[in-house]
Order: sequence, then C-alpha cells, then structure tokens
Amino acid sequence: MSPFNNFYQKIATNRLSHWLNTLPAQLTHWHENNLHGDYKHWQKTLEALPSVAANSNVNSNVDLADNVKVGELGDFNSGEFKRLENLMKKFKPWRKGPYHIHGLHIDTEWRSDFKWDRLADHISDLSGRYVLDIGCGSGYHLWRMRGAGAKFVVGVDPTQLFLMQFNAVKHFIQDEQVHLLPLGIEQLPELKAFDTVFSMGVLYHRKSPIDFLYQLKAQLVKGGELVLETLIVDGDENTVLVPGERYAKMRNVWFLPSEKAMCAWLERCGFSNVRVVNTDITALDEQRKTEWIDTESLQDFLDPNDNSKTIEGYPAPKRAIFIANA
Ligand SMILES: C[S@@+](CC[C@H](N)C(=O)[O-])C[C@H]1O[C@@H](n2cnc3c(N)ncnc32)[C@H](O)[C@@H]1O
Repeated sequence: MSPFNNFYQKIATNRLSHWLNTLPAQLTHWHENNLHGDYKHWQKTLEALPSVAANSNVNSNVDLADNVKVGELGDFNSGEFKRLENLMKKFKPWRKGPYHIHGLHIDTEWRSDFKWDRLADHISDLSGRYVLDIGCGSGYHLWRMRGAGAKFVVGVDPTQLFLMQFNAVKHFIQDEQVHLLPLGIEQLPELKAFDTVFSMGVLYHRKSPIDFLYQLKAQLVKGGELVLETLIVDGDENTVLVPGERYAKMRNVWFLPSEKAMCAWLERCGFSNVRVVNTDITALDEQRKTEWIDTESLQDFLDPNDNSKTIEGYPAPKRAIFIANA
C-alpha cells in the first residue's frame, strides 16, 4: 500500500484532483527506486513512537497559532517520555522548528518561528485557502499555516529525513489537512490550484532562478499570492552575487540578487503588486547549535574576526521577504 493513499483520497474530492493524473505514478517510482539507505530504519523508528491512542489519559490539545505544540509534560510516564526523546533524536539533525511534543522541546538549529513572525502580518489571511510550501524542510511552517486558518496545506521537499521528521510530528498532531510530499519543485505539474504559494530559503539553491519563478507561478490560481524569502545582497537592480564554490560553507548556492533585482525578476516573470515586506540579517540567536544537531551552525560559517562577513569573505546572510500576485 502506498504511504500516500490518504493524500490521494483527500485530493480526489478537492480542487487538486487533477494532480492524480501524474502524482501516484511519480511517488510509486520514488518508493520503488529512490528510497534513502536509512529509510527502513527510520520507518521502524516511527513505528516505535509512543502511541497516543493507547494512552487514553493523554492530552492531545494542539496549539498551532502561537507555536507548534501538542499536549503537555506529564502526558506520558517518565519511561515513555524518555523513549520519545531517544527516538526523536534518531532523526537528527533537526534543522527547522521548534516543536513541543507532550513536553519534549525539540530545540532545532533554526528558530523558524522568527521567520514566521516576520511575515505573518504581511500575508493575505490564510483562512479557507489552499496553501503550498515549496522546500518546506521538516514542515514547521506548514503547521503554522494551518494554525493561521488554511483549509488544506501541502509541503514539498525532496530531503527524505525531513519527511521522516514531519511524519514523526504528524504522529502526534493528527491533522489530515496537512501533508508533505517528497518531491522537488521540478517534479510538479502546472497545478494552477493554490491560493498562496510559499517558497522560503530555496531560490538561492536553484541554478536557474527565472525558471524557478515560473514554476512557482504555475502553482498559483490567477491572482494568487506568492510569498518568497531568499538571501539578498546590497546593491542596485543590476546587482547579483554568484559566489564561488562555497557561500557560508554551503556548496549549492547560486544567485543572491539585490532587493531591487529580485523585484525586477518577479515583474519580468509576470507577477504584479511586487513588494518587499521585510529584510533581516540572520542573527546568531536564530540559527545556532543545539543538542538536536551534531553539525556546525551559523557561528562556524562567519568570519570569526568580523561577523558581517562569511568565512569566505562574502556579505553575511541577509534575507528578504517578497510578496507578489500571479
Ligand atoms: C534552507 S531550507 C528552507 C526550509 C524552509 N522553507 C525555511 O524557510 O525554513 C531549503 C530547503 O529546500 C529543499 N530543497 C532542495 N532542493 C529542492 C527542490 N528542488 N525543490 C524543493 N525543495 C528543495 C531542501 O531539502 C531544504 O529543506
């Protein structure tokens, strides 16, 4: 049985039903040919998570409006709580969060709530909307979108560990309107079906940012809203940094436009009402090493003598949030 049957059943009766023309074949191919070497092991870890159904006294109150939180400390006895913690740590590195699961604070590398706080007041009300988040990581923002009233939320991200982290959280927050699929944007057909499309922290990983913008547009209904967040540099509308082999130790960074260049690209791709709603230099309290990652973090990516530069000498990470209509 496909792990995505639930999703197929859901979309069969909603406005995404045309996705069924291509999606099942794609995900079957993925499941048969592309599973990560640790996938079976991860699957067993998921199955070993404490069961909420078997503990009738467990409080399953969910708060997605102010954070991503389910239940309280004390819902599970101390043995089960320790098991929960040990099993969740098998999914390290936990990059995006934080999550609060029955009193377990998964203090992720990133305070993804800071990014949400920077954009929440600027986007159209998500109530009743179909929402897509492209490159959603473990899905932290998917839960916040649902908490902000979205009717149906889909995330896509090709990194399989992040799907596992999402499934681990969904094991406890059993909301059938929130889904994550292991796909890259290049695998999406032109759905033209979402009221809001988010894509945050992905554009600079794409070798062809203009194609990427057209792919984002192709997911939106006419007039729908794009919320795009990406790394930027200072400069005029002709300024774009294409770093050398690495930027902040990342190998896969391609285009860092200025605010004005990014706006010009969006307009050139046919978006209207293009605006920048926030810019922010990534601070050391937003991305930092915690016990939920074993790798390096922002502090190690910056010049130790001058935090305004990356270790390679480029401008330190500065991000902007753009909003536009299809
Ligand atoms: C910097 S993270 C951003 C996560 C999240 N959107 C956020 O803003 O916190 C970039 C994400 O893009 C994902 N990604 C990489 N290639 C992708 C692709 N081709 N299509 C969609 N997502 C991709 C990665 O797996 C990763 O989770």
